[in-house]
Amino acid sequence: MSDPTLTSEALDFGSFRPEYTAAVAAATAPILDKVKGVIPEIEWPAHAPYVAEIQRLKKERNAVVLAHNYMTPQIFHGVADLAGDSLALARMATEVDADVIVLCGVHFMAETAKILNPDKTVLIPDPKAGCSLASSITGADVRLLKERYPGVPVVSYVNTTADVKAETDVCCTSSNAVEVVESLGVDRVIFLPDQYLGKYVAAQTDVELILWQGQCEVHERFTGEEVRRYRDGHPGVVVLAHPECPPDVLQEADYVGSTSGMIQHVDDARPAKVVMITECSMSDNVAVNFPDVEFVRPCNLCPHMQRITLPKILRSLQTLEHEVVVEPELAARARSSVERMLQVGRGKKG
Ligand code: 13P
Ligand code: SF4
Repeated sequence: MSDPTLTSEALDFGSFRPEYTAAVAAATAPILDKVKGVIPEIEWPAHAPYVAEIQRLKKERNAVVLAHNYMTPQIFHGVADLAGDSLALARMATEVDADVIVLCGVHFMAETAKILNPDKTVLIPDPKAGCSLASSITGADVRLLKERYPGVPVVSYVNTTADVKAETDVCCTSSNAVEVVESLGVDRVIFLPDQYLGKYVAAQTDVELILWQGQCEVHERFTGEEVRRYRDGHPGVVVLAHPECPPDVLQEADYVGSTSGMIQHVDDARPAKVVMITECSMSDNVAVNFPDVEFVRPCNLCPHMQRITLPKILRSLQTLEHEVVVEPELAARARSSVERMLQVGRGKKG
């Protein structure tokens, strides 16, 4: 790994602004060409110097940038080495050969990467990038539930803290939840913390689910009425929805799946018109790769995901901030529930 010490000049962010030079324009031209349908060309001089500098520093640091599908297009197409849904990010974190992982997503995703890679430096560009699901439950809450339902195994969504994962038998994501629940071979499980994902899973399995009252602050805002308005306003539109949406939304959808599941569905079905009922940055990212598909874009942004910006990613690479730290004993307990999930899904696409 390269020398992590930095000069005071590099740390001076008050004056440090990478410049848009002819060399930067030339180096980033292929990326601009790709994203110009979703990023106005006039904005590119503001993004390009950061893209170029991040690309250079990644090599110097032997760093890899993992990005969630909800990142803005300048991050997703400009600086990410690998991108995907939460399951894919967890898998990628076990496979990357780098000294530093910069996780462009929310805190629980970076924490999961750290749990799986105790010896690597895992950075999150903004440690305040939280998640309403992860903050809806604590390890102490799970211990109380286990006392109330002795012997009933706990399945937790990865959208949880290390503390909750440490109390969990097996984690799941939106792309493998039914499979994980059924892998336990029991009649009843405690399923945490997303009540809507839980209801969606319960409708597809005979296993009884004891639910928690958590929900995603972004997806809970969608309604079935809104989906019907999209159908009326855009005849023939194919509706894809994330399982964190309330049940009336999922009932109206043509396909329900994780963020990567939705992308895969667009790739397989190539609908003429599609609406993705999820965080709206994703439609821009996907539209870049499917120019023949018309995307209807509802705009619900995740305020936590939006905290991750190019200047913050650059700062992370320059200063090696903000390092995600998980106490080793806690990490070891949390790791077993994440690894158990990865075993269940082994060989499957995220
Ligand atoms: P995915 O695992 O489907 O990417 O979902 C993560 C998330 O936080 C959705 O809001
Ligand atoms: Fe959490 Fe919802 Fe944001 Fe995903 S979209 S990170 S579930 S708050």
